[in-house]
Amino acid sequence: VSEARRLATAADSLEALAKAVADFEGCPLRGMGARQSVFGRGDPAAPVLVIGEGPGAEEDERGEPFVGKAGRLLDRMLAAAGLEGKVFITNTVFWQPPGNRTPSPAEQAVCAPFVERTFALMQPRAVLLLGGAASKSVLQSDEGIMRLRGQWREWRLAEGNVSAPVMPTLHPAFLLRQPQTKKQAWADLLALAVRLEQAD
Ligand code: URA
Repeated sequence: VSEARRLATAADSLEALAKAVADFEGCPLRGMGARQSVFGRGDPAAPVLVIGEGPGAEEDERGEPFVGKAGRLLDRMLAAAGLEGKVFITNTVFWQPPGNRTPSPAEQAVCAPFVERTFALMQPRAVLLLGGAASKSVLQSDEGIMRLRGQWREWRLAEGNVSAPVMPTLHPAFLLRQPQTKKQAWADLLALAVRLEQAD
C-alpha cells in the first residue's frame, strides 16, 4: 500500500484529509516550486463533488482551488444551474505544476488515493469532472474530452461500496479561451442539476 493510500485511508473527515495532503511528501510536484498544497473548498456534505485538473498561480497563492478567473466562471455557472453551495471542489493534484503545465498521469496517480478518499468520505450523489486531464484520470480512459463530455459514466471504487454517476465536461479555462464551447458545458451542467433534482 502506498504512503498516500495509507494516509488517505486513515483520514476520517475531509478536514483530516486536507491535513494529510498537506503533510504528504510523496508527490514530485511538491518540490517543483509550489508554495503550498491546495486541497478543496466547499461543503464536505455537498451532494456534488467537482474535480478539476490542478492548482494554478492564484490557487497556489491562496491555498484554495478555483479562485482565479476560471474559478469565477465556474462559480457563476454553478450558481446559474442552481448548484451554489451544493458542491465540494477539488483537483486531481494538490500542488501547482511548474509553468502551469498539465499534471502528468504519474503525478495524478500519486495523488489519486486522496481524490478517491474524498469521494468515499463524501459519497456524493454526482461527480462533475472538469476537462480532459481530470476526466481521463478519474475514468481511466484514453478518450478525448470532446468524446467523453456530456455522457454519464459510473465511478465505482474497487474498495468499499462507493459509486456515483459522473459527468465529464469542458474545463472552465478552456471555455474562457473558446467561448463558443460554453453552451456544451452548460448543457452538461444542466444535465447534472436535473439528475440531482430527480433524485431528490
Ligand atoms: N484550474 C484547475 O483545474 N484547478 C484549479 O483549482 C484552478 C484552475
